[in-house]
Amino acid sequence: MIAREITEDILSISAIDWDRRLFDELVPLPEGTSYNSYLVKGSEKNALIDTAYPPMTAEYIAALKATGIRKLDYIIADHGEQDHTGSIPAVLEIFPDAMVVTNAKCKDMITEALPVAEDKFIVVEDGQTISLGDKTLQFFLTPWVHWPDTMCTYIAEDKILFSCDFFGSHVAGSDLFATNEALVEDAAKRYYAEIMMPFRSFIRQHLEKLAPLQIDFIAPSHGPVYSRPAFILDLYKEWASDVAKKEVVIAYVSMYDNTTKMVDYLTDRLMEKGLSVKRFNMVGVDTGQFTKALVDASTVVFATPTVLTGPHPSVVTGIYLLHVLKAKTKFVAVVNSYGWSGNLADRIKDMLPKLKAQLRYLDPVLVKGLPKENDYKALDRLADEIYLANNPAS
Ligand code: FEO
Repeated sequence: MIAREITEDILSISAIDWDRRLFDELVPLPEGTSYNSYLVKGSEKNALIDTAYPPMTAEYIAALKATGIRKLDYIIADHGEQDHTGSIPAVLEIFPDAMVVTNAKCKDMITEALPVAEDKFIVVEDGQTISLGDKTLQFFLTPWVHWPDTMCTYIAEDKILFSCDFFGSHVAGSDLFATNEALVEDAAKRYYAEIMMPFRSFIRQHLEKLAPLQIDFIAPSHGPVYSRPAFILDLYKEWASDVAKKEVVIAYVSMYDNTTKMVDYLTDRLMEKGLSVKRFNMVGVDTGQFTKALVDASTVVFATPTVLTGPHPSVVTGIYLLHVLKAKTKFVAVVNSYGWSGNLADRIKDMLPKLKAQLRYLDPVLVKGLPKENDYKALDRLADEIYLANNPAS
């Protein structure tokens, strides 16, 4: 682990977790991840912005010592989750005079999880500043990106925003800056989908709040630093908006190929109509790829056999993700092959109560066993309905 210069006085100390493949035992990490900490050297005082993930503390402390810094005045905690705060106790061991600067909610999170004494904190409010001499740290509360405690730290003199999880990406790479924008966009979109998407309305507010700031760099706590902030800011504006794209996500499972036959037929009809289709066989699906597709899609089709009296459990995962991540989806359709008990459409509707106000349910296609001629006609009708829902003027 090494420290690298963003500017002469601001160093990135990034704990690159090349091999990690699952975050919180939940989020797939095909590209690994990093936990970024930033050392800010002022003319009078020094500050460390966020720290590192506990298993990487020893390496992190070695890298911090290798910077040659002799005095640390502040440890800024932008967010209480331990991938950023976990190394605070170890930093305080080598710099016992440093104070932990954070907001009240984040202080609660930290004291619940880590052995940091109450009198080691300086609690800041929204907009408050702390001077390092020739640099001023300003704190902006940005709740729910990712937890209710999150804030950003801004240095006007260097036009740099430290955004913690906000704008992050799970990428383990040697690039300090987001030079490979295609790679970073894909990782940042996956990250947004899995972590930020439920908080779209907060994100829109935060983007407005931060808009007056002059920003040359956005330095998140995961993934590379953005030296072209408009790149990620524009993407976030698009992703967090309520405008969906004419895309159809089909989440399906088939047990005896009956559902697959219907999904294949429906896919062809939708493609004939020029609609973009993203298909996910939900058995063993990469949930990151699935949730990434939900960021933009106007339409989601759940295609499933009946298992006992409900959807296949792997399709339930997809329904649950749509529900908890509160995607901007407008239309939902159900395609179902059943043996003896019918109408899964109502069951699936009941599983999406948070989206009740925004969703329109298209007529389901419910088929007993093998799809027959009339069932294919029903799929033709569903394809027409999906097309018209996405092209209301046609
Ligand atoms: Fe990267 Fe919510 O912690």
